[in-house]
Amino acid sequence: MKRRTFLAASGVGSAGLLLPVATLAQGTLADNELKIPELLSGRLENGRRHYRLRAQRGTTRFFPDLETPTLGLNGSYLGPTIRLKDGEDVTMHVENALGEPTTIHWHGLHVPAKADGGPHSVIGAGETWRPEFQVMEHAGTFWYHSHLINRTGDHVYQGLAGMIIVDDDESAGLPMPREYGIDDIPLVIQDRRFNQDGSFQYVRAHSDIMTGMFGDRVLVNGTLNPVFSATTSKVRLRMLNGSNARTYNLAFSDGRRFTQLSCDGGFLDRPVEMSVVELGPAERCDIVVDVSDGSPVDLISLPMAADSPYRPQGMMRNMHPTNGERLQILAIRPQSALEKSDDLPDRLVPMIRFQDRGIDNTRRFTLSMAMGMGMRGRMMRGRGGPRGGMMMGRGGDQFLINGQAMDMSVINETVPMGSTEIWEVVNDSMMMHPFHVHHGQFQVLDRNGRPVHAHERGYKDTVKVGPGETVRLVMTFDHFSDAESPYMYHCHILEHEDNGMMGQFVVV
Ligand code: C2O
Ligand code: CU
Ligand code: CU
Repeated sequence: MKRRTFLAASGVGSAGLLLPVATLAQGTLADNELKIPELLSGRLENGRRHYRLRAQRGTTRFFPDLETPTLGLNGSYLGPTIRLKDGEDVTMHVENALGEPTTIHWHGLHVPAKADGGPHSVIGAGETWRPEFQVMEHAGTFWYHSHLINRTGDHVYQGLAGMIIVDDDESAGLPMPREYGIDDIPLVIQDRRFNQDGSFQYVRAHSDIMTGMFGDRVLVNGTLNPVFSATTSKVRLRMLNGSNARTYNLAFSDGRRFTQLSCDGGFLDRPVEMSVVELGPAERCDIVVDVSDGSPVDLISLPMAADSPYRPQGMMRNMHPTNGERLQILAIRPQSALEKSDDLPDRLVPMIRFQDRGIDNTRRFTLSMAMGMGMRGRMMRGRGGPRGGMMMGRGGDQFLINGQAMDMSVINETVPMGSTEIWEVVNDSMMMHPFHVHHGQFQVLDRNGRPVHAHERGYKDTVKVGPGETVRLVMTFDHFSDAESPYMYHCHILEHEDNGMMGQFVVV
């Protein structure tokens, strides 16, 4: 039986600057069957496919005898998996029944800025937003989530997110597991902290903003302690790091290797054999694991390697106790008779290399955090309300890109339509920032001048930039000229984004 105990966590970091943090303690919990989000395939009417989402409030039973107030889409926590087909015309109908404003952003999709769902596309309480776009994607795993200015972290944490799967003709014939919920399994991986009454605990201490919000329990598709029963000899896991701040070092408990098929926005040229994959916030990858030996195995997160370029440095190191631990993610239990899966192909989909088009312009984006001498004063000033007082960066000087904090009324960059650009992202801080660009996929050219590993050489929309690193991205801006509607670029640690580490660009 389940045993649950309560204790007041000792808190994080230096004394005196923090509110007491009492969390629902770690305890022995029963295993739960992994929830598979409902598949939303839309309805075809006159050549256009319509999808309906309703953002709503609810309560969710993560624990057998506790109700957690949550947000969800078409349900109480998280949303359905939206299945899109490359080339189709789509209308999304997003009804907001939350009783407060939100937005819904299609993370990674190449769509007009007006349809992108960023902070300017506010859906008022009771309103329905109906963006239209054509799907112009390679097959891949994407997602959607709230992007309300200064509130993205809070909304996503409460549950306003879901997965998107795109199919295309180019990859349709490749042999690989592709039966949703059977051998093609969505995994929305999120860490959460719970209060004693079962409610989510969000941003209670200054460190929750500095490092981003870390939880002490892992949910997969909203399931605590999930177990998946495999019925096939190979299983494809579509892994989405839907956490606000945590990076996972995903591996298997017995050290078995696995095959990576894709990164964020599409297939790699060819499958890559891996033993661990580091997945930062908002990153995705599809992997295939062989379970034909029939033995139970766990998907876990390893402590961050001592030589990882993403390790926090200096004083930030002490604020990251959470990256030092091994976490259970998903138990995989193969059934006794397994259906035999096909062998994977040697080659996947040939990549179009953006830099071959010639580079028209290079821009530099320097990420910084205002820390040190000035911080104490700001923290003192910020010790007001339960949460509002913690948002000391809202005024603008703590999380910066090129020395500036996000300002809804400022267009930071103007990109000429039709151009191909290199964006140099420089991390001038002591911790890793996952840098994300709206408008579509980019490719990573190099890190500190060195070529990136094979598993990162695909279509990407979010890239980890370690402390002191310079990462060069190349991207093309071929569509959707619109001087009025900006796209965002930002750190995908949501508390950094909400506190200023974001900028805007238009394509004209
Ligand atoms: Cu996943 Cu700007 O967002
Ligand atoms: Cu995005
Ligand atoms: Cu950041």
